[in-house]
Amino acid sequence: MRVYLAKNYNDMSRKAANIISAQIIMKPNAVLGLATGSSPVGTYKQLIEWYKKGDLDFSEVTSVNLDEYIGLGPEDKNSYSYFMRSNFFDHINIDSKKTYIPNGLENDEKKECDRYNLIISRCGGIDLQLLGIGNNGHIGFNEPGTTFESETHRVTLSEKTLAANSRFFESIDKMPKYAYSMGIKNIMQARRILLIASGKDKSDALYKALFGAITPNVPASILQLHNNLTVIADEKALSQILSTHTISPGGHIL
Ligand code: F6R
Repeated sequence: MRVYLAKNYNDMSRKAANIISAQIIMKPNAVLGLATGSSPVGTYKQLIEWYKKGDLDFSEVTSVNLDEYIGLGPEDKNSYSYFMRSNFFDHINIDSKKTYIPNGLENDEKKECDRYNLIISRCGGIDLQLLGIGNNGHIGFNEPGTTFESETHRVTLSEKTLAANSRFFESIDKMPKYAYSMGIKNIMQARRILLIASGKDKSDALYKALFGAITPNVPASILQLHNNLTVIADEKALSQILSTHTISPGGHIL
């Protein structure tokens, strides 16, 4: 595990974009596992900027997103499908036929989960999985208590997640209560994982994820067992860790 200390959100975003960019340059047909939410927006902006400068090409890239709300279609402004198009895909030359996201309008849970697992395996697995972390330690929408063996599944969103994500909706009642999410097993099978975190709200979850017991109660704690994990977090998100440790420029926690 390498943990890089970023000064702030913009610094975190640039550092994360650097790693994604390196992945694409080293393997132009890379499979990227992508996330939504506030954490990756700056990273996507930076990648768009480099694409526009001519430094990056997404034409051979495949993407698989972590999750989608059940009940929201791709044209719904709160769907993750819409989020990905407006924050990233519409601004780069990725082939939309190679951008995958769970179908929130599919009511047949088993059919959708099987379809999504098959997509991940057919594209040869994920080269680089980008993750944010919930303030309850979730990754994807794998809420506390989710078995580490899970593949794509239907999730009941926790109270904490509903409260945190209601900021995007008119009111908490308008929020979907369920989602499809890649499982922890899918995430752990990615060849490389890049976890990003910004802000004080993430400091407790990040501390428990990296230093706490490995337990389904803190889903992100399983990442300690991944053999190629890079964490990029800003000073606020790392504040709890920095109260007892220092981080070397090479990303080692001392
Ligand atoms: C998003 C996702 C979630 C978020 C997490 C943090 O696709 O799977 O795990 O990464 O909830 O969200 P933000 O970045 O909005 O704080």
